[in-house]
Amino acid sequence: MATFEPVLTRNWGLPDSHTLRVYESRGGYQAARKALASDPDSIVATVKESELRGRGGAGFPTGLKWTFLPKDRKETFMCINGDESEPATFNNRIIMEKDPHMFLEGILISCFATKASVAYIYLRFEYINAYRILERAIAEARAAGHLGKNIYGSGFDLEIYLHRGAGAYICGEETGLIESLEGKRGWPRIKPPFPAIEGAFRKPTVVNNVETLLCVPHIIERGASWFKSIGVPKSYGPKLYTVSGHVNKQVCVELPLGVTTRQLIDEHAGGVWKGRKAKGAVPGGISMGLLSADELDVPLDFESLRGPGCLGLGTAAVTVMDDQTSIVDYLYNTARFFAHESCGQCTPCREGTGWMYKMIKRIRSGGGRIEDLDILKNMADNLGIIPGTTICGLADGAAWPFKNAIAKYRGELEDYIRTHQSPGARVTALQENIAHGISAGDGTSLPRADLPPTVIPASAVALRNPRPEPA
Ligand SMILES: Cc1cc2nc3c(=O)[nH]c(=O)nc-3n(C[C@H](O)[C@H](O)[C@H](O)COP(=O)(O)O)c2cc1C
Ligand code: SF4
Repeated sequence: MATFEPVLTRNWGLPDSHTLRVYESRGGYQAARKALASDPDSIVATVKESELRGRGGAGFPTGLKWTFLPKDRKETFMCINGDESEPATFNNRIIMEKDPHMFLEGILISCFATKASVAYIYLRFEYINAYRILERAIAEARAAGHLGKNIYGSGFDLEIYLHRGAGAYICGEETGLIESLEGKRGWPRIKPPFPAIEGAFRKPTVVNNVETLLCVPHIIERGASWFKSIGVPKSYGPKLYTVSGHVNKQVCVELPLGVTTRQLIDEHAGGVWKGRKAKGAVPGGISMGLLSADELDVPLDFESLRGPGCLGLGTAAVTVMDDQTSIVDYLYNTARFFAHESCGQCTPCREGTGWMYKMIKRIRSGGGRIEDLDILKNMADNLGIIPGTTICGLADGAAWPFKNAIAKYRGELEDYIRTHQSPGARVTALQENIAHGISAGDGTSLPRADLPPTVIPASAVALRNPRPEPA
């Protein structure tokens, strides 16, 4: 097999890699000059031929998406999704901080291809550093003639605007993003119409992820067949994988699509921390579900993850859990996140995520019943756009951790319900409290030192005499 040459990250180690000077000294903006000297349709055709699939989560073919724009459109908008709110995902942030000009070059070529003369970068609110770096990079690019009017004498105009979100996960969903960009509450729209037909300001709009557009200059520079020579069938090209959680080294690493979780842990993240073993891993952001310890050799690509029942590759953000992690804690944390982030438009999502959170909180607090697992599974099976009960995929993301955990770790969940312990898992302060009849009150685990030494709150009594949830 040919040696893999990283391209997306090739400038990251250089001093001042975020500046135009360094980017141009490395051949930057040459792909854009080449693209703008050709015609938009041929760029779309090349990207389509490369079979580049979106890196934002759904893996939709990028070139194909661009062909959905109406032929007779007068105006097109490009929205670049830099919301990056999926827990444990951080590759977009590093791209924007380390090499903003490669990203801007990707936007420039993609806007030329789709005939968009206005692009909005929708940036996660917390990414203040990326915001400042991008602000400066856009100014540099405009001053150097890479943006503005009649770029490279091609007759093509482009302005790029930065738009900061306000900290809502749902604004990463493409139509929630568009609503938010328009100054409204970030409520996803019912589709169709899809953004390509009616998007920002009701005009044809392309929404693409930061990393997706980062691939475009390299496809133009090296060709579609080069891109397809990397990766595995149906999942081509380089990919930025992030690894975090219980590993020795948290990393963002560029590799061909199709590496395994085990490779990422052992070869790039320094192994599982503290000499422990992996209990499982989240393959691509928490929405994607869970791989068990014996599924860590499944390739992390757009197709293979369906085998072990995961939702997909998602953001390729791997979170590793060591063998002392409680699956109940994992479910509690994921459910709390989705219940908080549901926008509330669809009843099954608004109510379902809240019920799931309340149920796992009750289980975690020692008041679980074995039949709760079947109720949770039933709810998870009926929540989301896949079963057809919601507007957007947030609900599917909320359901998948439960589906996978109940299928793969049912024994542990049942043991926990019976004994308030996850076999082999660290004993949390909360579990000690339960064992001693003392509750933290709200179901959260407190550090040992924070425990009230003698007071037994009334809620502890309720814990020992659990009541069913109200219907
Ligand atoms: C709840 C939810 C959150 C999402 N968050 C993001 C996000 O932060 N970044 C992103 O690129 N895509 C996110 N997506 C996917 C987008 O809706 C959309 O598919 C993507 O931006 C398209 O870009 P791509 O084709 O280049 O992947 C999210 C989807 C859902 C349902
Ligand atoms: S599925 Fe949930 S997050 Fe998505 S639109 Fe419906 S209520 Fe909002």
